[in-house]
Amino acid sequence: MYKRDYPENWNDWFDYFETNKDCLLDITFADDDIISLQTKLCIGQSVAIFQLGESSEGRTFINKAREFVARNGNQAYMKCLDLFIKEEHRHADNLKTFMNQQKIPVLRKQWTDSCFRFLRKCLDLEIEIRVLICAELIAKVYYHSLYDASHSPALKTICRQIMHDEDYHVQFQGQALALAKSAKDPMRQSLAHFFHYRVYNAAIAVVWMDHRSVLKSSGLSIFGFHKLCMREWQALQSDLKEHAKLFKKTTRWNQVTIRAEV
Ligand SMILES: [Fe+2]
Ligand SMILES: [Fe+2]
Repeated sequence: MYKRDYPENWNDWFDYFETNKDCLLDITFADDDIISLQTKLCIGQSVAIFQLGESSEGRTFINKAREFVARNGNQAYMKCLDLFIKEEHRHADNLKTFMNQQKIPVLRKQWTDSCFRFLRKCLDLEIEIRVLICAELIAKVYYHSLYDASHSPALKTICRQIMHDEDYHVQFQGQALALAKSAKDPMRQSLAHFFHYRVYNAAIAVVWMDHRSVLKSSGLSIFGFHKLCMREWQALQSDLKEHAKLFKKTTRWNQVTIRAEV
């Protein structure tokens, strides 16, 4: 095991996602678990934006992954991706149930979410994964703040579950990125990294603008938020080095036996 206890190939990821479905925290939506008007004003719009983001069907992502897999022959990855998207939808469903209980309106469209989806549509699989990882890293920081910003036991449990899942999502996408990167030459990889770093910093600024009421109420300043996001970035960079080593050392992942299909 090269780091903590994360899966190291697509078959293990498939098992992880299958097992995780049965190990979820119990979220109780009690009748008296109603947040104050002040809290609702602070977190309502912000939760609605994240709920919209979690509900993305990921159709273009799946199509690009399918093309990539058609060239590389790794069907097990597609099965993991399907379970990964189901987890994101579970996050969206949990947040929606909470919003319905608190009478927070559900959003159908929001400009940052639309920009994020448009950007992802325009790019190849590697860059799309990079953009997606930006969202996952920032989400890890955001849900910590949301946990602190509300006294609702249901919302706190939802945040705890999402924080757990997003931690694994970053690893899962990091390994997928290592695979997608391997198909590019070093110059294109450097350009992609340069783009990734700029997009990440822009995303931090945009998330601060849209969600500062939640972030501030958990005690974060813009500098504190930026620092925490950059800590996640640094952790990702060292993970990517490990993934690349693992990828070189153990196997061409496109040759892994597809136990998930049996
Ligand atoms: Fe999520
Ligand atoms: Fe995620």
